[in-house]
Amino acid sequence: MKVTVRDIVKKKGAEKIAAITAYDYTTTRLVDQAGVDIILVGDSVGMVVHGLPSTIPVTMEMMLLHVESAARARPRALLVGDMPFLSYETSIEDAVYNAGLMLKKGAEAVKIEGGGEMADAVKAMVRAGIPVMGHIGLTPQRYLLIGGYKRRGVKAAEAEKLIDDAKELEKAGVFSIVIEFTAADVAAEITKQVSVPTICIGSGWMCDGQILVLHDVLGLSENTPPFAKKYSDLKKIIVDAVSSYVREVKQGVFPGREHSFFSEGYFKEG
Ligand code: KIV
Repeated sequence: MKVTVRDIVKKKGAEKIAAITAYDYTTTRLVDQAGVDIILVGDSVGMVVHGLPSTIPVTMEMMLLHVESAARARPRALLVGDMPFLSYETSIEDAVYNAGLMLKKGAEAVKIEGGGEMADAVKAMVRAGIPVMGHIGLTPQRYLLIGGYKRRGVKAAEAEKLIDDAKELEKAGVFSIVIEFTAADVAAEITKQVSVPTICIGSGWMCDGQILVLHDVLGLSENTPPFAKKYSDLKKIIVDAVSSYVREVKQGVFPGREHSFFSEGYFKEG
């Protein structure tokens, strides 16, 4: 049965939520077959698919194309589209309009980065009928401002601010909150204090769910973050497979007769 936003909310306290990123028709089909609850078409696509140095250059055009491709897989999991840098911070109108475009391409919810300062934008999106996932802790679109991809919530003041941010997002109407690279005890406290599910990445095990970047899970990333777990070495599998293909082409082994066909006797078989 199709996973809805309501199903995700109901899982809090009942069942852990497994989420992962995917960026196109094929990867979405495969991760959906594996039984994830949420598929995020993350703006990490900029780095892991397009080779960009950060998520800052990612545009709405890129995200819409990837969301559209992923949506064609018609996943059972909830499909969430990530709002790229400058698509929702400039004005509430921009936030609602761009989030709406994500839904028109097949996303069933959107994710935005930021805490209490995004509350008015969240309220406006929810008023327009757009389910919103929050994202606090390490917010990669703000890495320049926060001084890099650093651990969050280590100092008491920052921990308190994160708890307040989560509560404000909850009040504004988000259906879940991603907590990235944040002290595990702080993420656990947020999980206790909000009624919506927390989906963690690098923030410990005491959350309502987990999310990882697909390329980290598969062993395809160039730089895997310290908190990610590699479940496969797809890089090696791909290089081995393509090396075998190159070798067989060079040796004249591929294609063989079994991969070929002949005309109806026009030329004599050699
Ligand atoms: O874009 C992304 O992949 C994300 C996850 C790390 C949560 O935002």
